[in-house]
Amino acid sequence: MDFKKKTLEYLVDELDVELSVLEELIEIPPQRDMGDFAIPCFRFAKILKKSPAVIAQDFADKLDTLPEFIDRVEVAGPYLNIFLNVSVFNKTITSNILESNDLLKFDWGSGKIVLLDYSSPNIAKPFHVGHAFTTILGDVLARMYASTGYEVVRINHLGDYGTQFGKLIVAYENWGDASALEEDAIKELLRIYVKFHDEAKLNPELEDQARAKFRNLEAGEAYEYELWEKFREFSLNEFKRIYNRLGMYFDSYKGEAFYIEMLDKVVNLLEEKGILVDSQGAKIVDLEEYSLPPVIVRKSDGSSIYATRDIAAALYRHKRYNFDKLLYVVGQTQELHFKQLFATLKKAGFDWADNMEFVGFGLVKFPEGVKLSTRSGDVVYLEDLINEAVSRTKAVIEKSNENSDDPMSQEEIDKASEIIALASVRYTFLRNGRERDIVFLWDEILDYEGDTAPYMLYSYARARSILRKSGVDASELKNADLSILSENQEFELLTEINNLPASLEQALKHNEPSIFARQVMTVCRSFSRFYNQVSILQADTEDLKIARLALIEAFSKTVKAALALLGIDTVERM
Ligand code: ARG
Repeated sequence: MDFKKKTLEYLVDELDVELSVLEELIEIPPQRDMGDFAIPCFRFAKILKKSPAVIAQDFADKLDTLPEFIDRVEVAGPYLNIFLNVSVFNKTITSNILESNDLLKFDWGSGKIVLLDYSSPNIAKPFHVGHAFTTILGDVLARMYASTGYEVVRINHLGDYGTQFGKLIVAYENWGDASALEEDAIKELLRIYVKFHDEAKLNPELEDQARAKFRNLEAGEAYEYELWEKFREFSLNEFKRIYNRLGMYFDSYKGEAFYIEMLDKVVNLLEEKGILVDSQGAKIVDLEEYSLPPVIVRKSDGSSIYATRDIAAALYRHKRYNFDKLLYVVGQTQELHFKQLFATLKKAGFDWADNMEFVGFGLVKFPEGVKLSTRSGDVVYLEDLINEAVSRTKAVIEKSNENSDDPMSQEEIDKASEIIALASVRYTFLRNGRERDIVFLWDEILDYEGDTAPYMLYSYARARSILRKSGVDASELKNADLSILSENQEFELLTEINNLPASLEQALKHNEPSIFARQVMTVCRSFSRFYNQVSILQADTEDLKIARLALIEAFSKTVKAALALLGIDTVERM
């Protein structure tokens, strides 16, 4: 039941005011003692020729028979404040949750197609923490769109094309180790790539060889193509192992290379649209009217660049999926590139370019002096980061397990550590506005008391534990008398739970998962207040105990569904 809607309907019936006007005016006061809803009456003063305060009083007088779900109305100056009946609210929200099989599922998208371009690591290069940002944001947006009735296509636009492949082929011929490649492709490819650069300094001829190899690759020569394919496949297998660990998948791995054979067509198309100009042998699109620098579509040697391949990809995706929305989850550093991409398509007359959106994010930083056991130099591998989170988490659990009267098995500890560590890393990328930079501080992201995933998981685990301890079974909870839930903490918790859908809606509107993530955190904080301040197993009556356990069941069910939207799994204890 939507209490706001119900309230509006009641007001429209009793006061002589249009629904649309009230919908615009109704507010949620900042404090509960000012009501659950308020109608500011300033707007009516001119028409009714009375002061807002008098109008508020007139309204209140008209509301003399209240529906069951409204407890009272009060006038406070120019405001009409409406207070919900706490026990009706608590009972309704709790029982709705207990009965629901599809919490946080909606049909807002009604079959609209959303394409998400995210993660998109580069073949033969490490999967570093910068890619973790796009990977996690993209995955969560995919989950949110899918849960709200959109048809989602998860696209991994692999960086599997470029002149570096010519270098890799030369390097592999000279110094490559087939079995090392099979074992740890990225490590081996990185090793020979670095070696190539070192050697090329002494022997510049290598660069010429690499260019020749790349030309062969572009021409589709079998030998070079097969090597490239091997590098791609082995690298992708490693990426897939990471995706698997993160519990995610893609519908398409069509990377940059896929679009190469379409490039001639793209150039011809843009030529036909009359937007290509020659510039020193290259073909470019002038974007001055968009106040953007020009974009090169074809270089003077006939080859393409990153932007050309993105133009081809957009055209292909439109043809292939006829999308309603195409979102690019890519670091802010590439914002200009995407502005140019969208402008080029607009200039070519493709109005559907308005359905493409750049979803940017900030940088990932590590405070100076923080040592991470990385495999090489300056990039931080996502896997190393996760492994370190796991071992730190495990240490904490093992320590608290030592003096537990019901210790966890090693297997349970291992499983829980993996789940909690992955959750901690995920939440670090989700808790703040995505455009903000992230500074990775271990103590901060793993703190059980902080703004962290462990905090949320711990509140879930506490809920589960008290349900287990109570010995009360599910059927008893179903029959609980929920109308006796009348404490403020109960009302507050259920209010926050009831606000989850609106925050999900806002999160999608702005492609900003943090809006929803923060509300999930708020729910967990309200749960802690309830849990710490209200007696549960020691409640005054048996009925009250059962009702509160039912509320806890509703909380745990909700938080599990909400965390699932963030890609976070739960643990029964920790
Ligand atoms: N591979 C690129 C990188 O690692 C990201 C690709 C983003 N997607 C796109 N369609 N350009 O920076």
